[in-house]
Amino acid sequence: MLERDEQLTEEITSPIEQDEEHSFETTLRPRTLEEFIGQGALKEELSIFMEAAKSREEPLEHVLLYGNPGLGKTTLAHVIAQEMGSNIRITSGPALERVGDLAAILSNLKEGDILFIDEIHRLNKLIEEVLYPAMEDYVLDIVVGKGPTARTLRLNLERFTLIGATTRLSLLSSPLRDRFGATHQLSFYTQGEIAAIIRRSAGLLGVEMDEHSVSHLAARARQTPRIANRLLKRLRDFAQVKGDGVVTEPLACAAFQMMGVDEIGLDAVDRRILSAIIEKFRGGPVGLSTLAAATQEELETIEEVYEPFLLQTGFLERTPRGRVATRLAYRHLSAKGGSASGGGHQTIL
Ligand SMILES: Nc1ncnc2c1ncn2[C@@H]1O[C@H](COP(=O)(O)OP(=O)(O)OP(=O)(O)O)[C@@H](O)[C@H]1O
Ligand SMILES: [Mg+2]
Repeated sequence: MLERDEQLTEEITSPIEQDEEHSFETTLRPRTLEEFIGQGALKEELSIFMEAAKSREEPLEHVLLYGNPGLGKTTLAHVIAQEMGSNIRITSGPALERVGDLAAILSNLKEGDILFIDEIHRLNKLIEEVLYPAMEDYVLDIVVGKGPTARTLRLNLERFTLIGATTRLSLLSSPLRDRFGATHQLSFYTQGEIAAIIRRSAGLLGVEMDEHSVSHLAARARQTPRIANRLLKRLRDFAQVKGDGVVTEPLACAAFQMMGVDEIGLDAVDRRILSAIIEKFRGGPVGLSTLAAATQEELETIEEVYEPFLLQTGFLERTPRGRVATRLAYRHLSAKGGSASGGGHQTIL
């Protein structure tokens, strides 16, 4: 039973898109820059870039978007296309297996079209090299034939805009990074912004909810729009089954309790990670692989799903010698009735 609950909460608070979520997300996706909530500085910079490109009647410069899962990279790529009045062609690093795949896409692009490459850090090297001259000079160099008779054919391409998205900027090679005219980071959202996103989504879904439950939800969404929308959907279901369809504060609190999501959005796995550091490693530092073994989680899952938010909230710190649980983590866990108060005093930050 416990295992099932943990499984459930793991899915609820993960920032990674789940299989069945795609159409739901598309419904809630903002279409214009005005509808896109938060990321103020980024939006302002982008709108200046777009305005300038439009007035020069030129395609937008290539844009690289990076940030944690669920913060709005794909949404923003679509918004840019919409605002520029451009067609958007979507692909991803892992989907481009052969040079020919990319060549076919590039040679079909029209002037001003947008090519969106998601997970661009997963492009293979050969394909990346085809992208360089395409991005820089709008040409495609194709090698025809093999051995001594091989020759390079140069094809001209229409002037397009590449939008790349990645959750792992550090995995991008520097020649590729350098070819983007602008690189933008999407940051975590404030609670107020998340509340605005929840109100907008509730409106679109026709869910009635009071302001108290909006605040409770906003506090638990891990500063991430995707999680906010997912929790909203769960609340809607809960309200339909357990209430009269209206999301009220007591109903919301009961639902979160059932899901095992605490008042700041930590789930059972987050708590397990923190208590492992505190109890088994006296507060740390502990290496990531040791931590993964101790919590029976995948190393990548800890690194990509759990750690970013724990770092963001200041519960965890990264040091050259490993991960350390902070005073805040001790306080949060002991307030939850965990045994976080004992041990490891010398390592409390
Ligand atoms: N600024 C925003 N305002 C309103 N809703 C947003 C915003 N950003 C994202 N969302 C919502 O969150 C969902 C997830 O966003 P999106 O798919 O763009 O994230 P992503 O950064 O591309 O994630 P991944 O790294 O997993 O690809 C969207 O469906 C959208 O409904
Ligand atoms: Mg995306």
